[in-house]
Amino acid sequence: MSRLIIKNAAELVTCKGGPKHGKNMSEIGRIHDGCVVVEDGIIADVGTTDEVLSKYDTDDCMVIDASGRAVLPGLIDSHTHLIFGGYRADEFSWRMRGDTYMSIMERGGGITSSVRATRNTSLDEFVETGKKRLDKFMAMGVTTVEGKSGYGLDHDTEIRQLEAMKKLDEIHPVDVVPTFLGPHSVLPEYKGKEEEFIDYMIEVMKCAADNKLAEFADIFCEKNVFTVEQSRRFLTEAKKLGLNLKIHADEMVQLGGTELAVELGCMSADHLLQASDRGIEMLSESATIATLLPATAFCLKEEFARGRYMIDSGCAVALATDFNPGSCFTNSMPLVIALAALHMNMSIEEIVTALTINAAAALGRDSKIGSIEKGKKADIIILEYPSIHFLPYHAGVNIVEAVIKNGEIVRSNQ
Ligand code: NIG
Ligand code: FE
Repeated sequence: MSRLIIKNAAELVTCKGGPKHGKNMSEIGRIHDGCVVVEDGIIADVGTTDEVLSKYDTDDCMVIDASGRAVLPGLIDSHTHLIFGGYRADEFSWRMRGDTYMSIMERGGGITSSVRATRNTSLDEFVETGKKRLDKFMAMGVTTVEGKSGYGLDHDTEIRQLEAMKKLDEIHPVDVVPTFLGPHSVLPEYKGKEEEFIDYMIEVMKCAADNKLAEFADIFCEKNVFTVEQSRRFLTEAKKLGLNLKIHADEMVQLGGTELAVELGCMSADHLLQASDRGIEMLSESATIATLLPATAFCLKEEFARGRYMIDSGCAVALATDFNPGSCFTNSMPLVIALAALHMNMSIEEIVTALTINAAAALGRDSKIGSIEKGKKADIIILEYPSIHFLPYHAGVNIVEAVIKNGEIVRSNQ
């Protein structure tokens, strides 16, 4: 049996308990002078250093002295578009000159442009760039990443994106949770034939589900992309296949995707910049996680989602990067944290909950990850400073000093 002990943590933040709604998001289970014991990659004990060390012999195990440091669960990025070919730096400049994201999309740029590049990218190339991307996530304390397909929009490329994520999950310390996002955009040849395209994507999804290549299904429910009705049809088929559901909802235009997410029991509804008061009320009474992506609003120069209002209304909020080649080419956790604090008025306790246990629930994994509790995977990070308050305060700077995944130190930034 291998044992690791992390002791003397100035602040040990456990995030214990299940996903948290509303004011409970501030309950982060803080222990001063904390200690964690890990056995064979699983958390075996948690408490104050005095209390825990009295029960264990430290002779034959690895001991990390976390004096002057905060220790918390590994961060979980529950919404990314991890695998794609090519880049769209030109579009970023066009947007800075006044073009909108949707106008670029309507003239054949946007997702369509990434689809062209992604179709020309091999599995090996996806895996090679995927590894580098995951290394960057890991350096910022991320131990689980969700990744979506959606830049193939045909059978072979969608499946290849999912296969790349499966491979990455096997070879990289960071866990990768794969999502099928076939209905991500309507290519020019399918304009006016959206129903036919959804039928096609349902067939691809069956192949993905049969081959266990996807855990989630997702759709871009948006004006000029897919309607609420089309989204309902696609997600209902996904549910029949045993997939968990996510939805890109009410990002640019208030269509009612938030309400649909609750109606269908989606594990998360994502973006939500334009979510209605009624949609937010429905979310607050449901188990659906409201996943907010402040870096996307920032990069598109949009108003931020109403995070403060959602939490005050009793929603369970998660935060994620939305890393993708178009609307948000950043996987910076420090940026997400700074924006959530400064532009959505979230407290650091709420932010930590949103990036750990609530994000785990958005991935249906809250019984295994997202908190430092007996029986969970030992996915743990150590900060260079004594308290989580340094996360937003040291704005935009990575202060993760060490990353422990399944009880092994997989990254040291010392
Ligand atoms: O979540 N909104 C739709 N999908 C992505 C953007 C994809 C892209 O622009 O390539 C998002 O922001
Ligand atoms: Fe997205």
